[in-house]
Amino acid sequence: MVPGDGAGKEVVPEAVKVLKAIGAGLEFEDFDIGADRYLATGVALPPEVFKDLSEADAILFGAVGDPRVDDAYAAAVLLRLRFELDLYVNLRPAKLYDARLSPLKDAERAVVDLLVVRENTEGAYVGMGGRFKKDTPEEVAVQEDVNTYLGVTRILEHAFTRARREVCMVDKSNAMAFAGGLWQSRWKAIAPRHPKVASRHLYSDTCAMELVRDPSQFDVIVTGNLFGDLLSDLSAQLIGGMGVAPSANLNPETGRGLFEPVHGSAPKLAGRGIVNPVGAILSSAMMLAHLGLEAEAAAVEAAVVNAIRAGDCTADLGGSLSTSAAGDAIAKRVGERAKA
Ligand code: IPM
Ligand code: MN
Repeated sequence: MVPGDGAGKEVVPEAVKVLKAIGAGLEFEDFDIGADRYLATGVALPPEVFKDLSEADAILFGAVGDPRVDDAYAAAVLLRLRFELDLYVNLRPAKLYDARLSPLKDAERAVVDLLVVRENTEGAYVGMGGRFKKDTPEEVAVQEDVNTYLGVTRILEHAFTRARREVCMVDKSNAMAFAGGLWQSRWKAIAPRHPKVASRHLYSDTCAMELVRDPSQFDVIVTGNLFGDLLSDLSAQLIGGMGVAPSANLNPETGRGLFEPVHGSAPKLAGRGIVNPVGAILSSAMMLAHLGLEAEAAAVEAAVVNAIRAGDCTADLGGSLSTSAAGDAIAKRVGERAKA
């Protein structure tokens, strides 16, 4: 467990509460990574902690980020874990559990049950480039977008294994011909190897528009790191907001996994007992599934759905419960099932 900062510290204990209620016999170890420690020591992720985390069966992660520290801190923790553990698959499901949570006018027709499969180790996130003539009027900033044959191939292949009916490949090949060209050629080679799954392509701008126009059309959306970041926030908002959306960062070959709500540390909301634990709890359900505990994962998700539909949730979902009471409401439902 890496609760991290702000809202992360409030939601991870709720996820652990639910995991204990399901009675799967998991062992937990708490790691103190956070802005306080970074400010005090200048080290974001100490080597001994990195080593322990790299050996864990799974990492349950809260959030990192703090107004007192710069952006490099989040990268030094979260991006480092994604890159160095080679967690190349970022799964970001978006399911609308209750029509009243939809921001769309036609909530009844706006069925949302989609999965963003985001490439998680390359693209614009690799940190290659530089700032030249920094802080002068002649400054030039270059941020490279790195796409490799291996990286594009493995994420496309993975997307097809996750699809129930269709994989929609999203790029910006009309404007970014080099990266887009590689994505296009790998997609054209891989899609025909999966004849049971339909496949189509959308440009990233069109995909954003289509997600709002009719999200029910989507099953799996596979895309690069940056577009996946954007489209997964958009998808989260279609199902009730950042408080609900879970994610899994995986390496299917090594079995390593890091599970985190899509939301960040939410400094404006944190510390008041009001943040929504559902994103973290659903992330822990994804962790259970990854660990082979499929029935337990389904039970946690069912308990979440039941609590949301009953209005036993935090204010962002229309309820009136605190973070901890919302966690209790889900843990109680999970516990009843574990006894049954
Ligand atoms: C996310 C976050 C991160 C990202 C940030 C904190 C670097 O927004 O997990 O989506 O962009 O990947
Ligand atoms: Mn993001």
